[in-house]
Amino acid sequence: MLARIISGKEIAEEMRAALVPEIEKLKQAGITPGLSVVLVGENPASQVYVRMKGKACEKAGIHSDTIKLPTETSEEELLELIDRLNADTAVHGILVQLPLPKQINEQRVLRRVRPDKDVDGFHPENVGKVAIGDPTGFRPATPYGVQQMLLRSGVEIEGSHVVIVGRSNIVGRPMASLLLQKDKGGNATVTVCHSRTKNLPSVTRSADILIAAIGKARFVTGDMIRPGAVVIDVGVNRVNDPTAEKGYRLVGDVDFEGAKGVASAITPVPGGVGPMTITMLLYNTVQATRQWAD
Ligand code: GUN
Repeated sequence: MLARIISGKEIAEEMRAALVPEIEKLKQAGITPGLSVVLVGENPASQVYVRMKGKACEKAGIHSDTIKLPTETSEEELLELIDRLNADTAVHGILVQLPLPKQINEQRVLRRVRPDKDVDGFHPENVGKVAIGDPTGFRPATPYGVQQMLLRSGVEIEGSHVVIVGRSNIVGRPMASLLLQKDKGGNATVTVCHSRTKNLPSVTRSADILIAAIGKARFVTGDMIRPGAVVIDVGVNRVNDPTAEKGYRLVGDVDFEGAKGVASAITPVPGGVGPMTITMLLYNTVQATRQWAD
């Protein structure tokens, strides 16, 4: 069997096009959705992500503003900036790009963002709302995007056994919350695996849907996948490649070559989950603007 490719790029394009009239409507009512993105330091991957987020906003008609701070910025300075953005009525969404430099406490920063502007869904209030299925909570963009990809590519989620490899606050845990909800896109049986899971391959082989989000290049190999399973690869890892123009290339957490002959459907890297993440950030920014206008 050769797996069907689930193109995040195509689904993301459709979803972004569907959002444009919504943004137009808000603008006609005199409200331009506004997103502020904060980048501290010079992490090369973060610089790329932040640039892509800004471009996607511009294309969709969302006003975006990227604030870059030097690596040595203190926590106090960052908190003061967040307070300013919290109070700015033109800013409906605030995103602090992670990771932050080591002198800054990430949790203190994420808690400082007003929950109603927290389009990343990382504030504990939104984590709680998502966990109990309150639709006013912001769903973290990456798991929200994975759920949309599954729904829009016709994968049966309800009643399926979903195995998530990785328990991060950004992907694994909120992914489990979304798929457990008693709602469309939920009702799955969810197992979350991590570095201490015993006999991981036997667990992953029990998955109807396998979601890899561990941040290790090609960690999930073909023998860890049940024939016919759907495989979603959240990983974006740089590996050295002297033949590539930049000296590296991007690979996922799944060994794509080994997996594509076993799975029934699989997401590529790049062009899979990545474009969906940015799309769902745009959706969250529009949700924040709408909730603010109500
Ligand atoms: N770093 C990696 N993923 C994310 C994300 O979804 N949001 C933010 N703010 N930082 C990230």
